Amino acid sequence: MANATVLVVDDEALVRWSLRERLVQDHFTVLEAGTAAAALEQAGEAVDLILLDYRLPDSDGLVVLRKVKELYPDTLVILMTAHSTVENAVEAMKLGAFHYINKPFNVDEVALLVEKALETSRLRREVKSLRSSAGREFSFEAIVGTSPSMESIKALLRRVAVSPASTVLLTGETGTGKDLVAKSIHYNSDRATRAFVNITCSALPEHLLESELFGHERGAFTDARQQKRGLFEIADGGTVFLDEIGEMTPALQAKLLRFLEEKTFKRVGGLQDIHVDVRVIAATHRDLEAGVKDGRFREDLFYRLQVMPIHLPPLRERKGDVSLLANFYVDSFNREFKKRVKGIAPEAMQMLESYGWPGNIRELKNAVERAMLLVEHEWLRPEDFTTLTRTVGAPSRFQLPPDGVNLEDVERQLLVQALERANGNQTHAGQMLGINRDQVRYRIEKFGLQIPQK
Ligand SMILES: Nc1ncnc2c1ncn2[C@@H]1O[C@H](COP(=O)(O)OP(=O)(O)O)[C@@H](O)[C@H]1O
Ligand SMILES: [Mg+2]
Repeated sequence: MANATVLVVDDEALVRWSLRERLVQDHFTVLEAGTAAAALEQAGEAVDLILLDYRLPDSDGLVVLRKVKELYPDTLVILMTAHSTVENAVEAMKLGAFHYINKPFNVDEVALLVEKALETSRLRREVKSLRSSAGREFSFEAIVGTSPSMESIKALLRRVAVSPASTVLLTGETGTGKDLVAKSIHYNSDRATRAFVNITCSALPEHLLESELFGHERGAFTDARQQKRGLFEIADGGTVFLDEIGEMTPALQAKLLRFLEEKTFKRVGGLQDIHVDVRVIAATHRDLEAGVKDGRFREDLFYRLQVMPIHLPPLRERKGDVSLLANFYVDSFNREFKKRVKGIAPEAMQMLESYGWPGNIRELKNAVERAMLLVEHEWLRPEDFTTLTRTVGAPSRFQLPPDGVNLEDVERQLLVQALERANGNQTHAGQMLGINRDQVRYRIEKFGLQIPQK
């Protein structure tokens, strides 16, 4: 790993010189120290690795090792000694040394060992940071919702995540959080450091989906020039998320069922059974039970997946979560867009709460994002949510009677009701109808209503 900094600690100038000459060739930055005191002075966050002599004029190497590990636990230490004993080696490793080498040494071997040590620690750091960032993004706390249905789902998820390998079936309309929940199960399980792979079953024709999932042998079909490992193999130890499982063809459903029951499969064109350990999470926005009745979905696979079903309710069935989610997204887009929007004005919140949300949380998130991008005032108003007010085909609170209505008549009746409720105050009545005072007055005249003017 070029550009890393190595500190060479040895009282013999010749040893320091020979190591420096060799390490500089590999583009390392090399620092030197001839005593324990000088070594501790030079050690620090900037030093990636220390080559440390066991015998130093003012102290022994183990003392330096202990101190370094205490102050800079991420710094790697390789101990060098001319008087090797097993006890010393054991003691050094216990104190956290990466390795132990005997003098005299071959500088090329030392250089190789340094390279390897740095590579190992880089990987370790990567896994650590991956774990913590994915861990935060997909922690159960990131699933917003305090409605009773969401609380019980979160409690269930905590238990499912730690249960070793149970298959999970996520159902729910589009945008209800199936992807998010699948990832949160994976990243909160002890599979978190292994792969999470994700495939949408409807995205590929049957034979391609099969070879994606199970892999293929060379020559299995015309285009199979190389052997290929499938997602189940790649995800060994981790999780496979099969989205849109309702679209899987019957032949593949049968193969998946066999895999779920036996944990083994064959590559396309292969004879050998391959065994892997993966958790399968399947998801669908369809009603699989209806699919079973129609003969589109295998009954045995359905029951196999039904072991741990989790249904994510549509947003319109948990209205209480709308304001929570909307505020959550205001916060998060304030951060992302570097804005200082204070929140959502009450009329706008009322509108959001009474809206039907056919696209569920995805639609809410997009609506807030759009409003936040365009807004120039401190509080989001109803007119900032342009996508919603114009949405056609959203589930409505108003039912059109089978024999139809007279629209003018409906308008007149609603206007009368609003004026009554507002005690004749035209501005208030207008707010209830989403129109301004002038528009109210215009309609009063149009319909010839007798309303006391206030
Ligand atoms: N409970 C929730 N809290 C916060 N964000 C959510 C929640 N559920 C879904 N989301 C967000 O909504 C969007 C759509 O969710 P997603 O998981 O892709 O839905 P689905 O897979 O069911 O279509 C994503 O951006 C996701 O992060
Ligand atoms: Mg999805």
